[in-house]
Amino acid sequence: MDQSKIISSEVNEAQIAVHWKEEEIYRPSAKFIAQANLKDASVMDRFSEKNFPGCFTEYAEMLTWIEPWREILDTSDPPFWKWFTGGKLNACFNCVDRHLEKYKNKAALIFVPEAEEEAPVAITYQEIYARVNEVAAMLRDFAGLTSGDRVTIHMPMIPELPITMLACARLGVIHSVVFGGFSGEACGLRAADSGSRVLIYADSYYRGGKLIDHKSSAEVAVESARREGQNIDKVLVWRRYPGKYGSVTPMVEGRDFFVDEVLKNFRGKKIQPVAMDAEAPLFLMYTSGTTGKPKGCQHRTGGYLAYVTGTSKYFQDIKPEDVYWCMADIGWITGHSYIVYGPLALGATSVIYEGVPNYPSAARPWKIAERLDVNIFHTSPTAIRMLRKAGFDEPQKYDFHFKHMTTVGEPIEPEVWKWYYEVVGKGEAVIVDTWWQTETGGFLCSTKPALDAMKPGSAGPGVPGIYPIIYDEDNQEMQAGSGKAGNLCIRNPWPGIIQTIWGDRERFVRQYYQKYCRNPQSKDWKDWPYFAGDGALMAADGYLRILGRVDDVINVAGHRLGTKELESACLTVDEVAEAAVVPVVDEIKGRMPEIYISLKPGIKASPADVKAKVTQTIETMIGKIARPKTVQIVPDMPKTRSGKIMRRVLAAISNHMNVGDISTLANPDIVEQIRVQVQGQGPVETQEGPEDVKHFGTVE
Ligand code: WT7
Repeated sequence: MDQSKIISSEVNEAQIAVHWKEEEIYRPSAKFIAQANLKDASVMDRFSEKNFPGCFTEYAEMLTWIEPWREILDTSDPPFWKWFTGGKLNACFNCVDRHLEKYKNKAALIFVPEAEEEAPVAITYQEIYARVNEVAAMLRDFAGLTSGDRVTIHMPMIPELPITMLACARLGVIHSVVFGGFSGEACGLRAADSGSRVLIYADSYYRGGKLIDHKSSAEVAVESARREGQNIDKVLVWRRYPGKYGSVTPMVEGRDFFVDEVLKNFRGKKIQPVAMDAEAPLFLMYTSGTTGKPKGCQHRTGGYLAYVTGTSKYFQDIKPEDVYWCMADIGWITGHSYIVYGPLALGATSVIYEGVPNYPSAARPWKIAERLDVNIFHTSPTAIRMLRKAGFDEPQKYDFHFKHMTTVGEPIEPEVWKWYYEVVGKGEAVIVDTWWQTETGGFLCSTKPALDAMKPGSAGPGVPGIYPIIYDEDNQEMQAGSGKAGNLCIRNPWPGIIQTIWGDRERFVRQYYQKYCRNPQSKDWKDWPYFAGDGALMAADGYLRILGRVDDVINVAGHRLGTKELESACLTVDEVAEAAVVPVVDEIKGRMPEIYISLKPGIKASPADVKAKVTQTIETMIGKIARPKTVQIVPDMPKTRSGKIMRRVLAAISNHMNVGDISTLANPDIVEQIRVQVQGQGPVETQEGPEDVKHFGTVE
């Protein structure tokens, strides 16, 4: 089914009912404010609509340009906005070379291997400069890559990943990094879509205490690319331990090469950074769709780099003297923007951790923070929930002090936010809840850390220069403070937005602009709001509460309930560690919520009591309309390797449907356990089920 149909048929009905109480606010400390990068409230005026689009030169001026831009925003071909046209720059130069004068002996990256016996490794700006040059020489002179070519990189969290990305950027080669946890099949499809003829791999990496054979997935990738009509000429393989091959897959003569061996021919080589047009693509980042093939989000060089640099400075509060740790994976947009490009453009020290946060225990992140004296920390609600569940008191045992923390990627339940604030942040750190997407390049909504109050569970208002608006299905604006949710849109273009979907201009227009475009002939950006695909509501103060993807809501007897709202209620129950809500078909009410919970360790209460308490809490906090059909207590939730709970799988089990492909889950075995618990022994169901349930939780 076409995704646009899901959206419209879902949202066409009643507006989402929202019953979420306002949270009390928290204020940044005087100590934080005194040192902050962004403490001048005039920023709102500088970035107000009357100064648009010129306001964004404030970000572009943080970069070093080879040629100045002629025009800030070119709107001649809507909605394919062009930024800083005529300008030339090199992203690698901005992230590496320009820091040498002041910071050559400062760590650019600190790599923390998963095994605790392996000490962290600091790589200075001088050293990263040397390595990036050698790799760029190899890519150009050995792999034959030149500006505009695409290369697919399927690598885990090791420093060679950002080094390879920066080497590509030095040459103007467009990198397409595929998250290391994706299968070879997924990698091959993306390589084919982007037209890559070179794959860059790692042989192995540590995860959960085991050395994973990664190179074996390259065989599958090459094969699946070939099936799509794309030949792979070369597979370049970084070895986790140079000289020692960590995979059982044979190297294919003439196709596969160990990078450590090839690099011997390029020692000490220097490559001039290539002057790239501001509008030249810097990278592709594939994001999966509900149906069809994944979309290659195409990011530009100048606008993107300016946007992530400016937002890293103002909203992450990064300075060269900080030790900044974003625990995301570089294989996602968060890692590209806020581990690699933004922080390095600012001359920061960016930490890269190889492994899982709870290896060997839930204390690991806090041990790392103490050892490296990390003062800025960035992670997702899923990780926070997991660490909270597995080690509620652990952060207190370690001597670290964050000045700033970020939460990103999903709505965070106020209960979880408060733990993050009080226990991880020790009441000292400011928190930003940043809302954005793969497509947006950088943050769109966030509080300004030194200037705004924090509200648990809410992403902040639009960041300076971003004007969010909520529309209903009839293009009517939902007023701030109306208590009604609708579709979150951004009224204006910004420099971080993707240029297009690789090779599919039509899909770009259809996906993001068709729905709310006022006039397809218009060259005025005001007629082209960006449709984000999220349901949200705006409080009177402009803060946004994100309800999740517009296909992530449950329609109960004609009332739409945000699943996050129910989950948040469950989490206020003492015994509950994690909660997931899915729609289950009900012959009377259409759909009803079914609740899956996992419990904190050592819970004494009987399962029946906990279930009753959950139902009671939901009735009290939301109303009888939201009463769950059943509450299932499960040992663990099915999760992707990036840690998101797979609600789609739970929805399929609840509805006796085919669970689909679960091979990429972090814990596929849990699925059968839950199925037996919910459905009893007996044959595995293969029923197709209704479209909305089938697509539930599959974030586009
Ligand atoms: C979707 C985008 C943001 C980079 C990582 C994910 C959800 C993102 C928040 C937030 C509530 C959030 C939205 C969005 N989302 N940030 N702070 N609060 N929801 O990028 O994979 O492209 O996912 O993540 O639903 O549309 P992505």
